[in-house]
Amino acid sequence: MTDHPTHPPEKPALLTRIQQSIQRGPIRPPDDRSRMKMVMNSLILHIHPSKVSKPALKFTYTFGLGGLLILLGSILAVTGILLLFVYTPSPDAAYDSMIALQTEINFGNLIRNLHHWSGNLMVVVGVLHLLRVFYTAGFTRPREFNWVMGITLLLLIIAANFTGYLLPWDQLAYWAVTVGTSLFDYIPIIGEPLTRLLLGGPEVGTATLTNFYGLHIAVIPLAIFAIVSFHIWRVRKDTITVPREINQERDKGKVTTLPHLVSIEFVFALVWLALLITWAAFVNAPLEEAANPAHSPNPAKAAWYFMGFQELLLHFHPVFGAIIIPGLGLMVLILVPYLDQDMETTGIWFRSVLGRILAGLSFFLGVAGTFGFVWLNEYYLDFPGWLPFLPSSISNGWVPLAVILLILIGYYELLKAFGIKTCEARQAIFTLLLASFATLTFVGIFLRGEGMALILPWS
Ligand code: HEM
Repeated sequence: MTDHPTHPPEKPALLTRIQQSIQRGPIRPPDDRSRMKMVMNSLILHIHPSKVSKPALKFTYTFGLGGLLILLGSILAVTGILLLFVYTPSPDAAYDSMIALQTEINFGNLIRNLHHWSGNLMVVVGVLHLLRVFYTAGFTRPREFNWVMGITLLLLIIAANFTGYLLPWDQLAYWAVTVGTSLFDYIPIIGEPLTRLLLGGPEVGTATLTNFYGLHIAVIPLAIFAIVSFHIWRVRKDTITVPREINQERDKGKVTTLPHLVSIEFVFALVWLALLITWAAFVNAPLEEAANPAHSPNPAKAAWYFMGFQELLLHFHPVFGAIIIPGLGLMVLILVPYLDQDMETTGIWFRSVLGRILAGLSFFLGVAGTFGFVWLNEYYLDFPGWLPFLPSSISNGWVPLAVILLILIGYYELLKAFGIKTCEARQAIFTLLLASFATLTFVGIFLRGEGMALILPWS
């Protein structure tokens, strides 16, 4: 008989083994709270670098907008999954499931409200985050492509909102989507087949609901998740830009992410969560009567984030209002980081003192000029009437577009003639266009009544 070797090494308890499999490697120190902390910490350090620039923690630099987008996305995922348990994506049952949510299901209304408001807020916060990055020149080298990713994300956020808009199948949903998808019709050649593909037929119906449902619950969220992961990874690799006051040296100080950044993020998320839940508890998401394809409301308006485009259509030939002008705008937006690489001003709000003054002035000019144009165009301007011998794509398209481009070029050249730096002059043009689009959106939402006539507050 051979002697058995000494006892095999004692196996760790099952729970410890499970813990080891999650954490990899030995667990030290042994008490539960420290273990939990270790797991959490290693998770956080996969998302954040271990140290971050101290000045970048200043709240008035990022305003936590990127983090807020992540929080909103998470709330949407959780509430969206809960809504799936009740919602039925068919024209016969969709509206009833909305009513059931509001009246029969515990916390159903709160969940729907949270989902609705978080989705809408995400559009607003996405735009504000874009503006923060733009006005602090956060897109400069090596972050150019992350800006492009950001634009893609913003488009996807809008697409997610738009496809979700139809799901309640009420009058608002049905007609807003009818108006919204009709904008695609104006795209030359591919416009009509694209609209048919999206709608699953010639008009909004059962197939549209199925298409929008699939896009809303699977395709778009997955795309957003994949691109956000890439976006955050790039922020980590490129590091966030360091904020700076005018005429001050860059502060190179660093602090550890744990606890400095994470504690701020935690409190920020809790405060926003509390605000959102309170809002959702008191303010209901809109729900009108069930969709009636035979009865169009007057005025039939698109969703609020498309109202700027719907307003453009009232002033320009459809191909210009729906395609050429928005297309040019998007192209310029994508090219922003490739047109301007003044690294000297990265991290300084509005680039310089002069930059701040010019941005303010341009904003004012953009708002006043656009209001003036809308008013004049409603009552006095009539390019097609003045130029009856020209096709309306020229008289109501190329001609007004050329006038607008000349005004922009003139403004830019004027600023340059006064010795304004290129980046400040471009920022001024961007601000003018931004103010103009915001004004068009405002007019479309609040100042358009029956037949889309202009309703002035004093009339
Ligand atoms: C789902 C949407 C988005 C999420 C979750 C997101 C998230 C973030 C986060 C967490 C940061 C770190 C700094 C901060 O919080 O400001 C960041 C930075 C950045 N984001 Fe986004 N973002 C989104 C959309 C956008 C959009 C629409 C743009 C612009 C077109 C954009 C461009 C950038 C750039 C260039 C940076 C680096 C800025 C710097 O270093 O100062 N992102 N983003």
